[in-house]
Amino acid sequence: MTSFPTLDDTGPIAGQTALVRVDFNVPMEDGRVTDDTRLRVALPTIQRLRDAGAKVALLAHFDRPKGKVVPAMSLKPVVDDLERLLGAPVRFAEDCVGEAARAVLDDLDAGGVALLENVRFHPGEEANDPAFAAQLAALGQLYVNDAFSAAHRAHASTEGLAHHLPAFAGESMRRELEALDKALGTPVKPVLGIVGGSKVSTKLDLLQNLVTKLDRLAIGGGMANTFLHAQGVDVGASLCEKDLADTARDIMAAARRADCELLLPVDVVVAKAVKPGIEAGVRALDRIAADDLILDAGPETAARLKRAMDLSKTLIWNGPLGVFEVPPFDAATVAAAQHAATLAKAGQLTAVAGGGDTVAALNHAGVVDDMTFVSTAGGAFLEWMEGKPLPGVDALTR
Ligand code: 3PG
Repeated sequence: MTSFPTLDDTGPIAGQTALVRVDFNVPMEDGRVTDDTRLRVALPTIQRLRDAGAKVALLAHFDRPKGKVVPAMSLKPVVDDLERLLGAPVRFAEDCVGEAARAVLDDLDAGGVALLENVRFHPGEEANDPAFAAQLAALGQLYVNDAFSAAHRAHASTEGLAHHLPAFAGESMRRELEALDKALGTPVKPVLGIVGGSKVSTKLDLLQNLVTKLDRLAIGGGMANTFLHAQGVDVGASLCEKDLADTARDIMAAARRADCELLLPVDVVVAKAVKPGIEAGVRALDRIAADDLILDAGPETAARLKRAMDLSKTLIWNGPLGVFEVPPFDAATVAAAQHAATLAKAGQLTAVAGGGDTVAALNHAGVVDDMTFVSTAGGAFLEWMEGKPLPGVDALTR
């Protein structure tokens, strides 16, 4: 793995101000944080810097205000939850640069914490304007990037700052990069991938990259229908991107060339509508009726996937296998997740998952804590799985 400086490498930092990029782009309703996972993820870095006697200045974005001050996108509502989780006061600065920020930071004691207002209120953030990065840099002596989930953005606070100050990966960034390296960088083979979700079109680059890297790739969710259709299966009224049949065939050919075994559903669960508790049935692939909707992988498909996990040493998982939000169409996702977690707990499988719906699906299956690593990143996790460079990570490893 490419090496990058971590908090082990800062040297003495007592009394210095650490500018710490975190991802506090948390779900919020009526001004209240509804899921504090991303706040909790940042705690080890904040605590470690406090213990070292540094002042901690937290930089973050919230939503997409597009370079303007949008009061509804203020980070202020995050302060109460952060104080509760940290067990310490958190000062709030009404701006992330200039006098407002400087005054709050000057007033902090060593080990004190301040959250600075949404960096995206300034157009220089997303433009990665060196002058804006310099304004941020003027506030501190070191830069810590702990926001893997924003590392696919080449913005001033995720990338530019690393060119102005000594730059280090925070604890969460370090854990993410180490886990991801174990899953796809230098994994123990054989490696199995599971890619689910509704549409092939959103995961083309990802599928194309994965077939060149994995020993087996299981495709599930709505996107599997497009592959089945491309093989001549009549998928009835199911979600299916028929215009992508050629693309699906290209991916299958690329998998064959790369000696990656593709695991497509061999049976499916169908219903006439997506409603909780609606009558559902298991169908062989040649028994799907014209008005059937495929809403989950069938039991034989799930059993085959579990056998593939038994044969693997590493699993990388993105996307659910069915409409897991609507039982009973969660069965295959839950069965596969529980099996992966059992193997991971027994030390037989390195099981890494992430991206969008995946965390919700694993939460639903009750196994998030048993997987080897579950990434809280959405877009960054996908771009990393696509094999794309992540500017926020590259800036640390220069
Ligand atoms: C995320 O929530 O995935 C990150 O915070 C990135 O947010 P963005 O897509 O608005 O850049």
